Amino acid sequence: MPFLSAALDRVKPSATIAVTDKARRLKAEGRNVIGLGAGEPDFDTPANIKLAAVHAVEAGKTKYTAVDGIPELKQAIIAKFQRDNELTYQPNQIIVGTGGKQVLYNALMATINPGDEVVIPAPYWVSYPEMVALAGGEPVPVICTAEFGFKLQPEALERAITPKTKWIILNSPSNPTGAAYTRAELKALTDVLVKHPHVWIMTDDMYEHLIYDEFEFTTPAQVEPKLFDRTLTVNGVSKAYCMTGWRIGYAGGPAQLIKAMATIQSQSTSNPSSISQWAAVEALNGPQGFIKANNKVFKQRRDIVVAMLNQASGIDCPRPEGAFYVYPSCAGAIGKTTPSGKKLETDEDFVSELLEAEGVAVVQGSAFGLGPAFRISYATKTADLEEACKRIQRFCGSLR
Ligand SMILES: Cc1ncc(COP(=O)(O)O)c(C=O)c1O
Repeated sequence: MPFLSAALDRVKPSATIAVTDKARRLKAEGRNVIGLGAGEPDFDTPANIKLAAVHAVEAGKTKYTAVDGIPELKQAIIAKFQRDNELTYQPNQIIVGTGGKQVLYNALMATINPGDEVVIPAPYWVSYPEMVALAGGEPVPVICTAEFGFKLQPEALERAITPKTKWIILNSPSNPTGAAYTRAELKALTDVLVKHPHVWIMTDDMYEHLIYDEFEFTTPAQVEPKLFDRTLTVNGVSKAYCMTGWRIGYAGGPAQLIKAMATIQSQSTSNPSSISQWAAVEALNGPQGFIKANNKVFKQRRDIVVAMLNQASGIDCPRPEGAFYVYPSCAGAIGKTTPSGKKLETDEDFVSELLEAEGVAVVQGSAFGLGPAFRISYATKTADLEEACKRIQRFCGSLR
C-alpha cells in the first residue's frame, strides 16, 4: 500500500506473537490447545512488588517523571549492577525504558547509520534483526550450531567483523536456546573484541537470574573491563521478577550514548509508567528469595521437557543452562509424512502440523535464524508441559 512507509518493507511481524495468536484462535474455536509459544513466566508478580505499585498510586506518584527514570530507580539499578555484576555506573550512565525492548530499540535508533552492520549470533531473539533493519542497518547473522552449544565461537566472531561493524549483540542466557556463556567462553569473545575498537557491545542480560545447576552468570564489561566504555549492558525486571506487563527495562552505558537514547525516548514515549517504576524499585531493592524458588520449578520443568523430548522419535533436545526455553532439532522428522498425508518439508511444516494434529503451539526455529528446530517455552504449568510433551511424542511417532 503506497501510503505505508518504505521502512515497513524491512520488517516482519513477530513469529512468536503469530503462533500465540493462532493458538488463541484455535482455543476460541473450542480446541484443546497447549501454548508453549509465549516468553513469559506463568508465576504472578510477587506481592511486595504489587503493593509498592499500590502505594505509589495512593501517594499520587502518577505524574510524568524524568524521561530516563526516577532517581530512586536509577539508584536501585546502580546498586544492582554493583551487587550482581561488579559494574560501577553514575546516574547519567543509566536509562530506564518501557521494557528492555524499548531500551534496545532506542540504542539502535540512536547509533545506526545506513549500511552499518550489526553482528547477531543465530539463533537470535526475533526482534534483533528486525530492529536493526528498521534503524536502517544491516543485520549480520552468524550461525551458531548445537555442536557448539549454540554459542558464538571466537573465530566466527573474528570472521564476521568488518570495518562497517558497529555493534555485536550478545544475549546470555539466550532466547531462544537457553544457552549461556561461561566466564571463559565470554572472555574468549571479549579478547577478540578488544582488538576491534570500532565495535561496540550490546549485551542483553534479560535472563541473567534464570540459570540452573550452579551456573555462574557474567556479563562482558565485567569479564573485560577494557570494554566498559563501549558496552551497553541491557537488563530489566520482566522475566526474573515476573513483571512482563509492567514494562520496565534499563541499561547502563557511556553517558553520551545514554543521553542520545534519552533524546529519542523524550520525543517518542517519554518516561516509562511512573507506577511501574516504583514497583521496579521494590523489585530490585526488596527480597530476592523468590527468584531461587521459581528457578527450582523452572529447572524441574527443563529436565522433564528435555527428557521427554529426547524420547520422541526424530527429536534431539540439548539441555540448556538458563532462561526458560529449549531448542530441540526436528531434523529427524523432516521428509516424513503425517497420517493425514502431509509431507514435512520444513520446521514450519512441523510446527503447523503439530498444532493441527495435537493442539501444541511451539515456534519454528527458522524464525530465530536456525532450523530445522523449534522453540519451547517451559514457563507453563508442569502438568501442561508433560501433556504437551506426550502429544509431541505421539505426533512424532505417527510420522512415516
Ligand atoms: C532476549 C530478550 N530480550 C529482551 C526482551 C524484552 O523484554 P521486555 O519485556 O522487558 O521488553 C525479551 C522478551 O521476550 C527477550 O526474550
